[in-house]
Amino acid sequence: MSTPLDASAVRQEFPATKRILYLDSAHQTPMPNCVRSALSEFLVEGNEMAGPKPVWMRRVEVAREKVAELLNAAADEIAFTKNTSEGINIAANAVPLQPGSTVLMLEGDHPNNAYAWLHLRRKGVKVKFVSLPDDQVASASTFADHIDASTRVISLSHVTFHAGQRHDIEDIGRLCARKNIYLVVDAMQSIGVLPVDVKKLGVSVLAAGCHKGLLVPQGIGILYVKQNLQELQPVYLAMGSLANPPKDYVARPDDMTTRRDAGRFEFGNFNLPGLHALARSIEFIQSIGVARIEEHVQMLGDRLIEGLDELGIPLVGPRQRGQRSHIYVLPLPVAKWVNYLTQNLVRVSPERGGVRISFGAFNTPEDVDRLIGLIASRMRKRVDSGNRFGEMD
Ligand SMILES: Cc1ncc(COP(=O)(O)O)c(C=O)c1O
Repeated sequence: MSTPLDASAVRQEFPATKRILYLDSAHQTPMPNCVRSALSEFLVEGNEMAGPKPVWMRRVEVAREKVAELLNAAADEIAFTKNTSEGINIAANAVPLQPGSTVLMLEGDHPNNAYAWLHLRRKGVKVKFVSLPDDQVASASTFADHIDASTRVISLSHVTFHAGQRHDIEDIGRLCARKNIYLVVDAMQSIGVLPVDVKKLGVSVLAAGCHKGLLVPQGIGILYVKQNLQELQPVYLAMGSLANPPKDYVARPDDMTTRRDAGRFEFGNFNLPGLHALARSIEFIQSIGVARIEEHVQMLGDRLIEGLDELGIPLVGPRQRGQRSHIYVLPLPVAKWVNYLTQNLVRVSPERGGVRISFGAFNTPEDVDRLIGLIASRMRKRVDSGNRFGEMD
């Protein structure tokens, strides 16, 4: 492993971290200076020069190459979307499914993953939810017994937003390859935080938004579509989706062959300011190194777990390193605890199982110590007033 990440240096890029203790990267990350500069440059170009669109369009391809590099994919396997939901919906409507085909999912996975598949029930597609305790991760064995001749797709998140489980996608990928099943992955939480190697993971389609680990504002999504899956065809079509778009801008009903690359799933103009910023943020992330970010957030997790153990507070999700990432949910009553932390300028999220703490590359061990200190302080006050931890409101 290379030298550890210098979080205090990374932190200089994130001015918001000077004002608050930011522990909510699973919700959205604060904007780094490099993204702000990229967006400002775009605004100046549009405002003062009415936009050099060919230059902007070339930047789309630069962004595509950078995303491809991040995922160990080819640039022509990457399409740009609006968010995760759009990517998963594209996948759900592209995969050839018949009435009676089955999609396997995990119970409680993100609704933006689930609804795309559930919506296919009107066409006779069956969606089967497999249950899994919050402190366990899914692997091939989670799904193996549920697979039958009708199973065509397994769709799940890489890292879960509600408990921080880091599912064993590689193992599930091997199962899918053996059984000839499409593997669709929602990488919203893992992208930019963990190495995501689509080839190693054996993914057919991967979708993510870019406003968390990829550090740009909402409104951009990435979609990986494995090459040669030509049977996956778009539902929406615009001229950019076509192999031979009409040069005179007159639609040709007799030639609507779609592109062979992932661009067949793109339609219409791009989010140009967002993509300009995305290319810049990926450069920044790569300059730190995703493997280093992974190691860093796990080290912060180790420190958090140690502090929680001393206070007798368990985790909702898994404790082992390889099974977790940057998201840690504490089973504390949400309303009062989130309120208390907010009053102390700590940003966290309420989650279904408790209070969600999530780290970014800019968090330091001192951030963890401060959080543990604040939790300990409120617990002490509760004990002094006659309440034990289990009874805490
Ligand atoms: C696992 C997961 N998927 C999807 C989303 C969001 O979906 P979208 O990018 O479509 O807004 C989130 C959180 O915002 C998430 O945690």
